[in-house]
Amino acid sequence: MCGIVGAVSKDKNILSILITGLKNLEYRGYDSAGVAYLKNNKINIIKSIGKVSKLENKIVKNDKSNIGIAHTRWATHGKATSVNAHPHRVKHITIVHNGIIENYEEIKEMLKNNNYSFKSSTDTEVGCALLNYYYEKFYDVDKTIKAFMDKVIGSYAITMIIDNDLDNLYVLKKESPLVIGISDNTNIVASDIRAILKYTNKYYILNDFEYAKVSADEVIIKSIKGEILNKELHTLDLKDNDNSKGHYKHYMLKEIMEQKTTILKTVLPFIEEGIDSLMTLPDLTKYKEISIVGCGTAYHAGLVAKYLFEEVTNTRCSVYLASEYRYQNNFLSKDTLTIFISQSGETADTIAALKLVKSKDCPTLGIINVENSTISYLVDTCLYTKAGSEIAVASTKAYTAQISLLSILVLSHGLRNKTISKDKAIDIIDEFKSIEKLITPLLNNKDMYLSIAKKIYKEEDIFYIGRGLDYYLSMEGALKLKEISYIHSESYAAGELKHGTISLIKKNTPVIASATNSNLNAKTISNLKEVLARGAVIYLICDDNYKDDTFTIINIPKVSDFIKPILVIIPYQLIAYYTALLKGNDIDKPKNLAKSVTVE
Ligand code: M6R
Repeated sequence: MCGIVGAVSKDKNILSILITGLKNLEYRGYDSAGVAYLKNNKINIIKSIGKVSKLENKIVKNDKSNIGIAHTRWATHGKATSVNAHPHRVKHITIVHNGIIENYEEIKEMLKNNNYSFKSSTDTEVGCALLNYYYEKFYDVDKTIKAFMDKVIGSYAITMIIDNDLDNLYVLKKESPLVIGISDNTNIVASDIRAILKYTNKYYILNDFEYAKVSADEVIIKSIKGEILNKELHTLDLKDNDNSKGHYKHYMLKEIMEQKTTILKTVLPFIEEGIDSLMTLPDLTKYKEISIVGCGTAYHAGLVAKYLFEEVTNTRCSVYLASEYRYQNNFLSKDTLTIFISQSGETADTIAALKLVKSKDCPTLGIINVENSTISYLVDTCLYTKAGSEIAVASTKAYTAQISLLSILVLSHGLRNKTISKDKAIDIIDEFKSIEKLITPLLNNKDMYLSIAKKIYKEEDIFYIGRGLDYYLSMEGALKLKEISYIHSESYAAGELKHGTISLIKKNTPVIASATNSNLNAKTISNLKEVLARGAVIYLICDDNYKDDTFTIINIPKVSDFIKPILVIIPYQLIAYYTALLKGNDIDKPKNLAKSVTVE
């Protein structure tokens, strides 16, 4: 989603900081970009639709500046046009904004009645005008910001330049992430510290209803009441944040390959010393039920955990889409642990669901990849996946890290509630320890995936089917394919096909399935035969050396249910990757998508 960078310096040209920062935020997804900086004592604004490189080309080559703000916009209110792009400027105030001002229409009416007029269709221009309105009323920044925060409903991370105060940036935050990076004679604000790692890895995190005055050599952070806050200065560990593509053509492929190490890295602290280490995980036996909340791939990871909690440890587990959670009856109780899964830790719907659970004083646990992200602060207990930076929009290594960590959590729970024996637990720990050996042949099976991709990349509809755990994995397989190849792909519980969907099967429709549960495989294979009889072309992932010349078969080793999801998903990820590659798509930044969805 949208990205913010702002910089103020005594001795550096901040234009290169802003452009580098924007380029590093490109992975979040955007459709226009803009910059505002001080030039000849005036604020110079340049905007452009499309890539940051286009914006960069529009900036006069030798321009230099010591203060500026910049933005990548993912259109919400109003189309992706230059007028709607940020920064927005109203009289004394210039801002960039992430988030949504929900009551902007009411505020716009109030401002129109006070002789304000608007050029764009954005909520941000309204926010900018509101800041100017209060600024002209008080000519006091603290009072202006407090009045703004009191009035606005919605979410915002705002970076602001005030014409009469050109040595300082002002930043305000509610529900959208914002950090302040600290460096010598230069301070930089950004949506994500990783965007400015070239300049600093030391940073402050703003909490909701906090704001800051940022000059080149000082940062003063205040609460909405105007009290100065003594905030902790964080340091990001650089070794876990390799943002380069290495020798890979795409981040997605690099990230798929990194699963050789990221899975074990995630679970190792909890299995290193055998079952004793498992006992360092939170004790879930005090809860009657488990709820899991997430979006997209994180939701799919939750479904894998549901299968394991229920089938292996006999513990009831419900999984919810975060975007629905807030608007339904969740029967919240202190006996239910709600687990929030998120790679970014910044997904707006997941944060909103979490706040709802917290407001009822019910227990929460986070499975989060990005350290110091919003969700990691809000949950009672946070367990980190160790996938490292995931840049490609399509989540791969974060998913396998999530399902691995959740599996280990289930394993420790099963030991505690005695549904899993010590011997069984030791076997599963051994499987995790040999994960690299198990997945390497699957990661290296490029010829197979490429040949499947060649057969499917011109198709318009593809169906993924499975039963039980395989059904949940097919959901993730279909999501991976559709988001990067733009081929319509849907997953169905294999037994449901006959209840409607089979009418869509025609000659050459690809049907991709996994069948890795010996109790259910025969049934899934019958369903595959039914679609084969209607002209479908079948691709099957299975673990029991099933042979059938009418299917294309990918064999995976036989392993426990704790490891199986990891092995099944790798072919799904790579089939999606090679299909998108053959289509010539922008694999790392698929159209219309954003890496971190910070609006509802
Ligand atoms: O950062 P999160 O894990 O909370 O993100 C959730 C989804 O937006 C994310 O998984 C999305 O579905 C991915 N693009 C899927 O590949």
